[in-house]
Amino acid sequence: MLETLRSVLQFRRFEPDPQKRRLVSVANVDDLRRIAERRLPAGVFDYIDGGAQDERTLADNVAAYRRIGFEPRVLRDVSRVDTSVTLLGRPTPLPLVLAPTGFTRIADPQGELAVARACARAGIPYVLSTMGTRSIEELAAASDAVPWGAEGDRRLWFQVYTWRDRGLVREMVERAAAARYEALVLTVDTAVLGRRERDVRRGMTLPPKLGPGTVVDGIRHPGWTWQFLRNEPIVFANVATSRAATSTEDGSRAVDLAEQINRQFDPSLSWDEIAWLRSIWDGKILIKGVQSVADVRLACEHAVDGVCLSNHGGRQLDDAPAPIDLVAPCRDAVGDGVELIADGGARRGSDIVKARALGADAVMTGRPYLYALGAAGERGVDWLLDFLADGTRQTLALCGATELRTIGRELLRTR
Ligand SMILES: Cc1cc2nc3c(=O)[nH]c(=O)nc-3n(C[C@H](O)[C@H](O)[C@H](O)COP(=O)(O)O)c2cc1C
Repeated sequence: MLETLRSVLQFRRFEPDPQKRRLVSVANVDDLRRIAERRLPAGVFDYIDGGAQDERTLADNVAAYRRIGFEPRVLRDVSRVDTSVTLLGRPTPLPLVLAPTGFTRIADPQGELAVARACARAGIPYVLSTMGTRSIEELAAASDAVPWGAEGDRRLWFQVYTWRDRGLVREMVERAAAARYEALVLTVDTAVLGRRERDVRRGMTLPPKLGPGTVVDGIRHPGWTWQFLRNEPIVFANVATSRAATSTEDGSRAVDLAEQINRQFDPSLSWDEIAWLRSIWDGKILIKGVQSVADVRLACEHAVDGVCLSNHGGRQLDDAPAPIDLVAPCRDAVGDGVELIADGGARRGSDIVKARALGADAVMTGRPYLYALGAAGERGVDWLLDFLADGTRQTLALCGATELRTIGRELLRTR
Protein backbone atom coordinates (compact mmCIF):
# COMPACT_ATOMS: atom_id res chain seq x y z
CA MET A 1 0.00 0.00 0.00
CA LEU A 2 2.86 2.31 0.88
CA GLU A 3 4.35 1.61 -2.54
CA THR A 4 1.04 2.53 -4.29
CA LEU A 5 0.68 5.68 -2.18
CA ARG A 6 4.24 6.74 -3.03
CA SER A 7 3.60 6.23 -6.74
CA VAL A 8 0.59 8.59 -6.78
CA LEU A 9 1.75 11.14 -4.20
CA GLN A 10 4.25 13.06 -6.27
CA PHE A 11 4.27 16.73 -5.34
CA ARG A 12 5.79 19.30 -7.63
CA ARG A 13 9.10 20.56 -6.27
CA PHE A 14 8.80 24.09 -4.88
CA GLU A 15 10.13 26.59 -7.44
CA PRO A 16 11.95 29.41 -5.62
CA ASP A 17 12.08 31.77 -8.64
CA PRO A 18 8.75 33.67 -8.70
CA GLN A 19 8.74 34.16 -12.49
CA LYS A 20 9.36 30.46 -13.16
CA ARG A 21 6.78 29.61 -10.49
CA ARG A 22 4.16 31.70 -12.25
CA LEU A 23 4.91 30.03 -15.57
CA VAL A 24 4.56 26.49 -14.21
CA SER A 25 0.77 26.63 -14.45
CA VAL A 26 0.56 28.62 -17.71
CA ALA A 27 -0.87 26.71 -20.67
CA ASN A 28 -1.69 29.43 -23.21
CA VAL A 29 -1.89 33.17 -23.96
CA ASP A 30 -5.14 33.58 -22.02
CA ASP A 31 -3.33 32.32 -18.91
CA LEU A 32 -0.54 34.88 -19.46
CA ARG A 33 -3.21 37.56 -19.84
CA ARG A 34 -4.89 36.56 -16.57
CA ILE A 35 -1.60 36.73 -14.66
CA ALA A 36 -0.73 40.08 -16.24
CA GLU A 37 -4.15 41.39 -15.24
CA ARG A 38 -3.52 40.34 -11.65
CA ARG A 39 0.00 41.79 -11.48
CA LEU A 40 -0.37 45.07 -13.36
CA PRO A 41 -2.28 48.11 -12.09
CA ALA A 42 -5.70 48.25 -13.71
CA GLY A 43 -4.88 51.40 -15.71
CA VAL A 44 -1.72 49.82 -17.12
CA PHE A 45 -3.46 46.55 -17.95
CA ASP A 46 -6.30 48.39 -19.69
CA TYR A 47 -3.83 50.48 -21.72
CA ILE A 48 -2.31 47.24 -23.04
CA ASP A 49 -5.45 45.13 -23.31
CA GLY A 50 -7.94 47.70 -24.56
CA GLY A 51 -9.10 48.73 -28.01
CA ALA A 52 -11.03 51.52 -29.68
CA GLN A 53 -14.66 52.37 -28.94
CA ASP A 54 -16.82 49.24 -28.44
CA GLU A 55 -13.81 46.98 -29.05
CA ARG A 56 -15.64 45.03 -31.75
CA THR A 57 -12.59 44.95 -34.02
CA LEU A 58 -10.39 43.95 -31.10
CA ALA A 59 -12.64 40.92 -30.46
CA ASP A 60 -13.13 40.13 -34.14
CA ASN A 61 -9.38 40.02 -34.84
CA VAL A 62 -9.21 36.96 -32.57
CA ALA A 63 -12.63 35.54 -33.51
CA ALA A 64 -11.82 35.64 -37.25
CA TYR A 65 -9.00 33.13 -36.70
CA ARG A 66 -11.44 30.89 -34.84
CA ARG A 67 -13.84 30.89 -37.78
CA ILE A 68 -11.22 29.11 -39.86
CA GLY A 69 -10.97 25.34 -39.47
CA PHE A 70 -8.60 22.70 -40.81
CA GLU A 71 -9.11 19.88 -43.24
CA PRO A 72 -6.50 17.48 -41.86
CA ARG A 73 -4.95 14.61 -43.79
CA VAL A 74 -3.76 11.42 -42.12
CA LEU A 75 -1.25 8.64 -42.63
CA ARG A 76 1.40 10.94 -43.99
CA ASP A 77 4.85 10.64 -42.51
CA VAL A 78 5.16 13.65 -40.20
CA SER A 79 8.14 12.46 -38.21
CA ARG A 80 9.99 15.58 -39.42
CA VAL A 81 8.20 18.92 -39.52
CA ASP A 82 9.82 22.11 -40.78
CA THR A 83 8.44 25.54 -39.81
CA SER A 84 11.15 27.62 -41.46
CA VAL A 85 10.32 30.07 -44.24
CA THR A 86 11.92 33.01 -46.02
CA LEU A 87 10.98 36.50 -44.91
CA LEU A 88 12.26 39.63 -46.68
CA GLY A 89 14.66 37.37 -48.54
CA ARG A 90 16.22 35.78 -45.47
CA PRO A 91 15.52 32.45 -43.79
CA THR A 92 13.67 32.50 -40.48
CA PRO A 93 12.86 29.51 -38.25
CA LEU A 94 9.23 30.61 -37.79
CA PRO A 95 7.13 33.12 -39.76
CA LEU A 96 6.58 35.35 -36.75
CA VAL A 97 7.44 38.99 -36.06
CA LEU A 98 6.95 40.74 -32.73
CA ALA A 99 5.04 43.98 -33.31
CA PRO A 100 6.06 47.49 -32.27
CA THR A 101 4.43 48.65 -29.05
CA GLY A 102 4.84 52.05 -27.43
CA PHE A 103 5.73 52.39 -23.77
CA THR A 104 6.70 48.73 -23.35
CA ARG A 105 8.56 49.35 -20.08
CA ILE A 106 5.18 49.92 -18.47
CA ALA A 107 4.75 46.10 -18.52
CA ASP A 108 8.25 45.27 -17.28
CA PRO A 109 11.26 47.42 -16.34
CA GLN A 110 13.51 45.77 -18.97
CA GLY A 111 10.88 46.54 -21.60
CA GLU A 112 12.05 46.31 -25.19
CA LEU A 113 15.47 44.93 -24.18
CA ALA A 114 13.83 41.78 -22.81
CA VAL A 115 11.77 41.36 -25.98
CA ALA A 116 14.77 41.92 -28.27
CA ARG A 117 16.87 39.33 -26.42
CA ALA A 118 14.06 36.77 -26.53
CA CYS A 119 13.60 37.38 -30.28
CA ALA A 120 17.34 37.12 -30.85
CA ARG A 121 17.38 33.74 -29.08
CA ALA A 122 14.44 32.56 -31.18
CA GLY A 123 15.92 33.99 -34.41
CA ILE A 124 12.86 36.07 -35.31
CA PRO A 125 12.48 39.79 -36.13
CA TYR A 126 11.37 42.39 -33.59
CA VAL A 127 10.10 45.86 -34.45
CA LEU A 128 11.06 48.74 -32.17
CA SER A 129 8.41 51.46 -31.93
CA THR A 130 9.09 55.17 -32.45
CA MET A 131 7.30 55.47 -29.08
CA GLY A 132 9.57 52.79 -27.58
CA THR A 133 11.09 53.16 -24.15
CA ARG A 134 14.53 51.83 -25.11
CA SER A 135 16.68 53.50 -27.72
CA ILE A 136 17.58 52.25 -31.18
CA GLU A 137 21.20 51.81 -30.08
CA GLU A 138 20.44 50.11 -26.73
CA LEU A 139 18.30 47.56 -28.53
CA ALA A 140 20.96 46.83 -31.15
CA ALA A 141 23.54 46.28 -28.39
CA ALA A 142 21.18 43.97 -26.44
CA SER A 143 20.49 41.87 -29.57
CA ASP A 144 24.17 41.71 -30.50
CA ALA A 145 24.98 40.40 -27.01
CA VAL A 146 22.87 37.29 -27.73
CA PRO A 147 24.85 34.66 -29.67
CA TRP A 148 23.21 34.12 -33.06
CA GLY A 149 22.73 30.93 -34.98
CA ALA A 150 23.97 29.99 -38.43
CA GLU A 151 22.71 33.22 -39.98
CA GLY A 152 24.95 35.22 -37.68
CA ASP A 153 22.97 38.43 -37.96
CA ARG A 154 20.13 39.79 -35.90
CA ARG A 155 16.86 41.04 -37.26
CA LEU A 156 15.73 44.36 -35.88
CA TRP A 157 13.20 46.54 -37.67
CA PHE A 158 12.29 50.12 -36.75
CA GLN A 159 8.72 51.41 -36.80
CA VAL A 160 8.27 54.98 -38.01
CA TYR A 161 5.51 57.37 -37.11
CA THR A 162 5.77 60.45 -39.24
CA TRP A 163 5.92 63.35 -36.86
CA ARG A 164 5.22 66.80 -38.22
CA ASP A 165 8.89 67.46 -37.57
CA ARG A 166 10.47 65.49 -40.44
CA GLY A 167 13.94 66.40 -39.12
CA LEU A 168 13.23 64.21 -36.09
CA VAL A 169 12.07 61.32 -38.32
CA ARG A 170 15.12 61.64 -40.58
CA GLU A 171 17.44 61.60 -37.59
CA MET A 172 15.84 58.44 -36.17
CA VAL A 173 16.01 56.73 -39.59
CA GLU A 174 19.70 57.61 -39.88
CA ARG A 175 20.31 56.20 -36.39
CA ALA A 176 18.50 52.98 -37.36
CA ALA A 177 20.71 52.70 -40.46
CA ALA A 178 23.87 53.30 -38.42
CA ALA A 179 22.76 50.58 -35.98
CA ARG A 180 22.21 48.13 -38.90
CA TYR A 181 18.46 47.77 -38.63
CA GLU A 182 17.08 45.64 -41.43
CA ALA A 183 13.79 47.33 -42.25
CA LEU A 184 11.60 50.36 -41.64
CA VAL A 185 7.94 49.80 -40.84
CA LEU A 186 5.87 52.89 -41.60
CA THR A 187 2.65 52.87 -39.57
CA VAL A 188 -0.14 54.43 -41.63
CA ASP A 189 -3.28 53.86 -39.56
CA THR A 190 -2.70 56.60 -37.00
CA ALA A 191 -3.60 59.86 -38.77
CA VAL A 192 -5.42 60.64 -35.51
CA LEU A 193 -5.54 58.49 -32.39
CA GLY A 194 -8.45 56.05 -32.04
CA ARG A 195 -10.83 56.62 -29.15
CA ARG A 196 -9.70 54.10 -26.53
CA GLU A 197 -12.50 54.34 -24.05
CA ARG A 198 -10.88 52.39 -21.23
CA ASP A 199 -8.11 55.03 -21.20
CA VAL A 200 -10.69 57.84 -21.45
CA ARG A 201 -12.53 56.49 -18.41
CA ARG A 202 -9.36 56.25 -16.36
CA GLY A 203 -7.89 59.55 -17.57
CA MET A 204 -4.87 57.46 -18.51
CA THR A 205 -1.59 59.29 -19.10
CA LEU A 206 1.82 57.89 -20.00
CA PRO A 207 3.54 57.44 -17.61
CA PRO A 208 0.58 57.08 -15.22
CA LYS A 209 0.09 60.35 -13.31
CA LEU A 210 -0.14 60.02 -9.54
CA GLY A 211 -3.61 60.77 -8.21
CA PRO A 212 -5.95 59.17 -5.67
CA GLY A 213 -7.02 56.47 -8.18
CA THR A 214 -3.52 55.54 -9.33
CA VAL A 215 -2.14 55.58 -5.76
CA VAL A 216 -4.77 53.05 -4.63
CA ASP A 217 -4.17 51.02 -7.79
CA GLY A 218 -0.41 51.15 -7.09
CA ILE A 219 -0.83 50.03 -3.47
CA ARG A 220 -2.88 47.06 -4.64
CA HIS A 221 -0.05 46.06 -7.01
CA PRO A 222 3.06 46.55 -4.84
CA GLY A 223 5.35 44.39 -7.02
CA TRP A 224 4.77 46.52 -10.10
CA THR A 225 4.86 49.80 -8.13
CA TRP A 226 8.17 48.90 -6.47
CA GLN A 227 9.74 48.08 -9.84
CA PHE A 228 8.32 51.24 -11.40
CA LEU A 229 9.71 53.49 -8.63
CA ARG A 230 13.06 51.67 -8.35
CA ASN A 231 13.98 51.91 -12.04
CA GLU A 232 14.96 54.93 -14.12
CA PRO A 233 12.04 57.03 -15.39
CA ILE A 234 10.22 55.70 -18.43
CA VAL A 235 10.73 57.99 -21.42
CA PHE A 236 10.16 57.77 -25.17
CA ALA A 237 13.81 56.77 -25.49
CA ASN A 238 14.18 57.39 -29.22
CA VAL A 239 12.74 60.85 -29.00
CA ALA A 240 14.54 61.69 -25.75
CA THR A 241 17.93 60.78 -27.24
CA SER A 242 17.33 62.77 -30.41
CA ARG A 243 19.02 66.13 -30.95
CA ALA A 244 15.83 67.51 -32.49
CA ALA A 245 13.52 66.75 -29.54
CA THR A 246 12.26 69.30 -27.08
CA SER A 247 11.97 68.21 -23.44
CA THR A 248 8.17 68.17 -23.50
CA GLU A 249 8.06 65.55 -26.27
CA ASP A 250 10.27 62.90 -24.76
CA GLY A 251 7.84 61.16 -22.42
CA SER A 252 9.58 62.44 -19.29
CA ARG A 253 6.40 64.36 -18.48
CA ALA A 254 3.09 62.54 -18.02
CA VAL A 255 1.14 63.07 -21.24
CA ASP A 256 -2.30 62.24 -22.49
CA LEU A 257 -1.48 59.93 -25.41
CA ALA A 258 -4.32 61.18 -27.60
CA GLU A 259 -3.30 64.80 -27.08
CA GLN A 260 0.38 64.01 -27.73
CA ILE A 261 -0.28 62.04 -30.90
CA ASN A 262 -2.81 64.45 -32.30
CA ARG A 263 -0.35 67.30 -31.74
CA GLN A 264 2.81 65.59 -33.02
CA PHE A 265 1.68 63.21 -35.76
CA ASP A 266 1.15 64.48 -39.25
CA PRO A 267 -2.41 63.80 -40.46
CA SER A 268 -1.50 64.98 -43.99
CA LEU A 269 0.49 61.78 -44.56
CA SER A 270 0.10 60.46 -48.13
CA TRP A 271 1.61 57.88 -50.49
CA ASP A 272 4.35 60.44 -51.30
CA GLU A 273 5.87 59.57 -47.93
CA ILE A 274 7.16 56.27 -49.33
CA ALA A 275 9.32 58.07 -51.91
CA TRP A 276 10.64 60.38 -49.18
CA LEU A 277 11.52 57.39 -46.98
CA ARG A 278 13.24 55.73 -49.95
CA SER A 279 15.35 58.85 -50.39
CA ILE A 280 16.70 58.59 -46.83
CA TRP A 281 16.78 54.78 -46.29
CA ASP A 282 18.51 52.04 -48.31
CA GLY A 283 16.98 49.01 -46.55
CA LYS A 284 13.60 47.31 -46.79
CA ILE A 285 10.38 49.28 -46.29
CA LEU A 286 7.08 47.87 -45.01
CA ILE A 287 3.85 49.72 -44.40
CA LYS A 288 1.73 48.75 -41.43
CA GLY A 289 -1.97 49.42 -41.08
CA VAL A 290 -3.22 48.56 -44.58
CA GLN A 291 -6.85 47.43 -44.43
CA SER A 292 -8.10 46.98 -47.99
CA VAL A 293 -7.25 45.19 -51.22
CA ALA A 294 -7.15 48.54 -53.05
CA ASP A 295 -4.41 49.82 -50.73
CA VAL A 296 -2.37 46.62 -51.05
CA ARG A 297 -2.44 47.22 -54.83
CA LEU A 298 -1.25 50.79 -54.29
CA ALA A 299 1.48 49.55 -51.95
CA CYS A 300 2.72 47.32 -54.78
CA GLU A 301 2.70 50.26 -57.18
CA HIS A 302 4.86 52.16 -54.67
CA ALA A 303 7.25 49.20 -54.58
CA VAL A 304 7.26 48.63 -50.85
CA ASP A 305 8.86 45.36 -49.74
CA GLY A 306 6.11 44.33 -47.38
CA VAL A 307 2.61 45.16 -46.17
CA CYS A 308 1.36 44.52 -42.64
CA LEU A 309 -2.38 43.94 -42.93
CA SER A 310 -3.33 45.52 -39.64
CA ASN A 311 -5.91 47.55 -37.77
CA HIS A 312 -3.45 48.36 -34.98
CA GLY A 313 -4.81 45.51 -32.88
CA GLY A 314 -8.29 47.07 -32.86
CA ARG A 315 -6.98 50.26 -31.25
CA GLN A 316 -7.78 52.68 -34.08
CA LEU A 317 -10.91 52.32 -36.25
CA ASP A 318 -13.57 50.15 -34.66
CA ASP A 319 -15.39 47.92 -37.19
CA ALA A 320 -12.30 47.74 -39.39
CA PRO A 321 -11.83 44.29 -41.02
CA ALA A 322 -9.93 41.53 -39.25
CA PRO A 323 -6.47 41.23 -40.86
CA ILE A 324 -6.70 37.45 -41.30
CA ASP A 325 -9.85 37.94 -43.40
CA LEU A 326 -7.87 40.21 -45.75
CA VAL A 327 -5.03 37.79 -46.41
CA ALA A 328 -6.64 35.64 -49.14
CA PRO A 329 -8.23 38.48 -51.16
CA CYS A 330 -5.03 40.54 -50.97
CA ARG A 331 -2.84 37.61 -52.02
CA ASP A 332 -5.21 36.84 -54.89
CA ALA A 333 -5.13 40.50 -56.00
CA VAL A 334 -1.36 40.99 -56.05
CA GLY A 335 0.10 37.50 -56.45
CA ASP A 336 3.70 37.40 -55.30
CA GLY A 337 4.03 41.16 -55.77
CA VAL A 338 4.62 41.93 -52.12
CA GLU A 339 5.23 40.17 -48.81
CA LEU A 340 2.11 40.12 -46.64
CA ILE A 341 2.18 40.02 -42.86
CA ALA A 342 -1.05 39.38 -40.94
CA ASP A 343 -0.91 41.54 -37.82
CA GLY A 344 -3.29 41.14 -34.87
CA GLY A 345 -5.48 38.51 -33.27
CA ALA A 346 -3.05 35.57 -33.45
CA ARG A 347 -2.90 33.72 -30.16
CA ARG A 348 -1.66 30.22 -31.07
CA GLY A 349 0.71 28.38 -33.37
CA SER A 350 -2.34 27.11 -35.24
CA ASP A 351 -3.07 30.75 -36.18
CA ILE A 352 0.37 30.96 -37.80
CA VAL A 353 -0.45 27.86 -39.84
CA LYS A 354 -3.82 29.34 -40.89
CA ALA A 355 -2.24 32.63 -41.97
CA ARG A 356 0.43 30.86 -44.01
CA ALA A 357 -2.12 28.54 -45.60
CA LEU A 358 -4.16 31.57 -46.71
CA GLY A 359 -1.14 33.21 -48.33
CA ALA A 360 0.52 35.36 -45.64
CA ASP A 361 4.30 35.34 -45.44
CA ALA A 362 4.26 35.80 -41.68
CA VAL A 363 2.21 36.71 -38.64
CA MET A 364 2.82 39.69 -36.39
CA THR A 365 1.73 39.77 -32.77
CA GLY A 366 1.63 42.44 -30.06
CA ARG A 367 -0.42 41.95 -26.90
CA PRO A 368 0.61 38.30 -26.31
CA TYR A 369 4.21 39.34 -25.63
CA LEU A 370 3.07 42.28 -23.47
CA TYR A 371 0.97 39.88 -21.37
CA ALA A 372 4.03 37.60 -21.20
CA LEU A 373 6.23 40.48 -20.05
CA GLY A 374 3.69 41.55 -17.44
CA ALA A 375 3.28 37.97 -16.22
CA ALA A 376 6.90 36.81 -16.08
CA GLY A 377 9.28 39.34 -17.69
CA GLU A 378 11.83 38.11 -20.24
CA ARG A 379 11.21 34.48 -19.25
CA GLY A 380 7.58 35.01 -20.12
CA VAL A 381 8.51 36.15 -23.64
CA ASP A 382 10.79 33.10 -24.08
CA TRP A 383 7.89 30.94 -22.92
CA LEU A 384 5.51 32.57 -25.41
CA LEU A 385 7.88 32.12 -28.36
CA ASP A 386 8.38 28.44 -27.50
CA PHE A 387 4.63 28.01 -27.14
CA LEU A 388 3.96 29.52 -30.58
CA ALA A 389 6.74 27.49 -32.24
CA ASP A 390 5.57 24.23 -30.61
CA GLY A 391 1.95 24.97 -31.52
CA THR A 392 2.93 25.56 -35.14
CA ARG A 393 4.85 22.27 -35.34
CA GLN A 394 2.08 20.36 -33.61
CA THR A 395 -0.64 21.79 -35.88
CA LEU A 396 1.33 20.94 -39.01
CA ALA A 397 1.83 17.37 -37.82
CA LEU A 398 -1.84 16.95 -36.91
CA CYS A 399 -2.82 18.30 -40.33
CA GLY A 400 -0.53 15.80 -42.02
CA ALA A 401 1.80 18.48 -43.40
CA THR A 402 5.58 18.54 -43.08
CA GLU A 403 6.61 21.94 -44.47
CA LEU A 404 5.09 25.23 -43.44
CA ARG A 405 6.63 26.90 -46.49
CA THR A 406 4.62 24.81 -48.98
CA ILE A 407 1.15 24.57 -47.41
CA GLY A 408 -1.87 26.16 -49.09
CA ARG A 409 -5.61 26.59 -48.73
CA GLU A 410 -6.25 22.86 -49.25
CA LEU A 411 -5.43 22.58 -45.52
CA LEU A 412 -8.36 24.80 -44.51
CA ARG A 413 -12.10 24.93 -44.41
CA THR A 414 -14.10 28.03 -43.49
CA ARG A 415 -16.77 27.61 -40.88
C1 LIG B 1 0.04 48.64 -25.83
C2 LIG B 1 0.18 48.71 -27.32
C3 LIG B 1 0.97 49.71 -27.89
C4 LIG B 1 1.13 49.78 -29.28
N1 LIG B 1 1.96 50.72 -29.81
C5 LIG B 1 2.18 50.73 -31.16
C6 LIG B 1 3.15 51.61 -31.72
O1 LIG B 1 3.82 52.37 -31.02
N2 LIG B 1 3.30 51.58 -33.07
C7 LIG B 1 2.60 50.74 -33.88
O2 LIG B 1 2.76 50.77 -35.10
N3 LIG B 1 1.69 49.88 -33.36
C8 LIG B 1 1.48 49.84 -32.03
N4 LIG B 1 0.60 48.94 -31.50
C9 LIG B 1 -0.08 47.97 -32.38
C10 LIG B 1 0.77 46.70 -32.53
O3 LIG B 1 1.93 46.97 -33.26
C11 LIG B 1 0.00 45.60 -33.26
O4 LIG B 1 -0.50 46.13 -34.45
C12 LIG B 1 -1.14 45.01 -32.46
O5 LIG B 1 -0.77 44.82 -31.11
C13 LIG B 1 -1.55 43.67 -33.07
O6 LIG B 1 -2.65 43.12 -32.42
P1 LIG B 1 -2.51 41.97 -31.30
O7 LIG B 1 -2.20 42.72 -30.04
O8 LIG B 1 -3.84 41.34 -31.31
O9 LIG B 1 -1.41 41.04 -31.71
C14 LIG B 1 0.44 48.86 -30.11
C15 LIG B 1 -0.36 47.87 -29.53
C16 LIG B 1 -0.50 47.77 -28.16
C17 LIG B 1 -1.34 46.69 -27.58
